[in-house]
Amino acid sequence: MKLFVMTMYLLLAPLVIGIRADDADQEAKGLRDTLGAQMVSIGTAAEPNPIRTDPMYAEILARDFNMLATENAFKMGLMRPTEDSYRFEDTDFLVDFAEMNGMDVRGHTLIWHQQLPDWLSNGTYTREELLTIMEEHVTTVVSRYRGRVDAWDVVNEAVEGDGSLRQSIFLQTIGPEYIEYAFRWAAAADPEARLFYNDFGADGLGVKSEGVYRLMESLLAKRVPVHGIGLQMHTTIGDTPDPEDVRRNMDRLAQLGLEIHVTEMDVRLNDEMGDLDTQLQLQAQTYRSIAEVCIQHPACTAFVTWGFSDSNYARAGRPDTPLLFDANYVPKPAYWALADLFASPVLMQCSGQPCR
Ligand code: XIL
Repeated sequence: MKLFVMTMYLLLAPLVIGIRADDADQEAKGLRDTLGAQMVSIGTAAEPNPIRTDPMYAEILARDFNMLATENAFKMGLMRPTEDSYRFEDTDFLVDFAEMNGMDVRGHTLIWHQQLPDWLSNGTYTREELLTIMEEHVTTVVSRYRGRVDAWDVVNEAVEGDGSLRQSIFLQTIGPEYIEYAFRWAAAADPEARLFYNDFGADGLGVKSEGVYRLMESLLAKRVPVHGIGLQMHTTIGDTPDPEDVRRNMDRLAQLGLEIHVTEMDVRLNDEMGDLDTQLQLQAQTYRSIAEVCIQHPACTAFVTWGFSDSNYARAGRPDTPLLFDANYVPKPAYWALADLFASPVLMQCSGQPCR
């Protein structure tokens, strides 16, 4: 589908080049319509409370994005106050909001070593006990949203910087098989959902991304139902992965048969990189260059930012303004860079590999 749409676009491009919407038109239209849903989903992480209390937040969320990633609501620490109880109000609310607004849902995340409930972090469990807790958690949550959550980050951040498996409570109590168990239970609970492994610092090439690649390869060799890989893409201006390395990483992951999502992109500013205007331009270029690699790559099907406004809602207390809108919801240069990219014709690029 993605290839077909791009071919049509290239054929029709001469007809549309030269007609550029002005800023007001673009904002009224929103990024999701500029890009067109067939090409790549454009997503952002969202929280329930600002949707409930801030109409501007809700409006921009539904106008600019056609994929909603749950920033915190699905994390076990928030969902499981006690071992025997679940809180579904926030996740129900987010999934309903996404459906009402024609957005896909990225369910983030089922198994992660952070934001665990205290009862779990402070407990002592045998291998069998922890496996039972995991199975019950994955099965309960995925079944409840069967057919409604399109992609799950089944396992998050299981690899260390040196490429080895992270020494989490899951690895230490269960062993490396905890990862494949999680994917198999998720697939059993919703056979249609797209199941992702998600990690940071493995976006371009390097020791960690090598470790993540090997993990994916070994899971697929065991026929574990992993369908995709999430490249988180938390970056800082002046310290971002080389877009060509990201493309090459996508190439090799795609050759394993994996779908790719950029899942948590943000771009922190850095005062060593110049005055504010210079930094905002660099931030815009960074967003644009990574989004371009994604939309050009046949296997990259979603580009997701980790929140969209620098307001308190999205980044409590963070001064480094990493997102597309400022704290007053005024679009920043990064927003206009994406709008411009999305309105331009796309050329497929697979760095020397045959494009699928
Ligand atoms: C972050 C949220 O954005 C914060 O609100 C929360 O306090 C901590 O977690 N990698 C991930 C995300 O996979 O879940 C993290 O989200 C950011 C890093």
